Amino acid sequence: MKERIPGEILQKLSGFGRLHLLDTCGSTNDYALSLPGPIEPAVVVAREQTRAQGRFRRAWYCDPDSLCFSVLLPAGPEPGRLPSTLTQLVGLAVCLGIESLSGLKPLIRWPNDVLLNEQKIAGILCERKGDAVAVGIGINVNQTGFPEDIPEPGSLRQLSGRNWDKYELLAAVLEHLFRLLREAAAGHDSSHLEALKQRSSVLHRRVEVRTLLRRHLGTVVDLDREGRLVLRTSDGKVIVLNSGQVRRLR
Ligand code: BTN
Repeated sequence: MKERIPGEILQKLSGFGRLHLLDTCGSTNDYALSLPGPIEPAVVVAREQTRAQGRFRRAWYCDPDSLCFSVLLPAGPEPGRLPSTLTQLVGLAVCLGIESLSGLKPLIRWPNDVLLNEQKIAGILCERKGDAVAVGIGINVNQTGFPEDIPEPGSLRQLSGRNWDKYELLAAVLEHLFRLLREAAAGHDSSHLEALKQRSSVLHRRVEVRTLLRRHLGTVVDLDREGRLVLRTSDGKVIVLNSGQVRRLR
């Protein structure tokens, strides 16, 4: 990889698992899920991706000013290994990493977007293959502009007015992520759920939720223990959603 990473950051990053620093690849998620040998924690970072994937099979915009990486985690059959709230805990780790370096307080738009000033600064895509999960994270860091067809984009640089060290941010996010995973394995579900509710940009808000088959309008009344969205729909029913795309209504 052409970018220079300070030795102390490199040392920190290597502490989270096998580190793969790539100049380019198709998708860091695919790369992580194709690593040979036993499934062990690994971190795959690419300066550029040629086929970066977003949710719902959309493309993800990735350029050298963004931070794109995947964390490979073993997800064996034994219960309790990875929490059902994984995607949201990853969002929380991204928020906490950013906050620890800046004091900015990003929010999570259920289930997998990180927003700052209502602009999307990061997205998360967790993909499973057998007993492995690739946690893919794309953060808009130092971009000063985006192609026109990207919806609601924003970068940390645009929103904070300064340049960020991508690898310092990576180390901060990983530190929070692995701490949250250790805590989840030790049963800290209620404090995590509380933190997720505090960080939610949609809790108690009127929203539109699009799922594969339907469109729901209503108010988000809760996040349940599984990290699902509890919605009171406009016709008074309470429904629980596993996934979907949420848009806040005024
Ligand atoms: C989304 O908001 O739709 C999720 C975007 C996830 C993008 C990241 S970038 C690193 C990893 N590799 C991929 O191909 N996708 C994820």
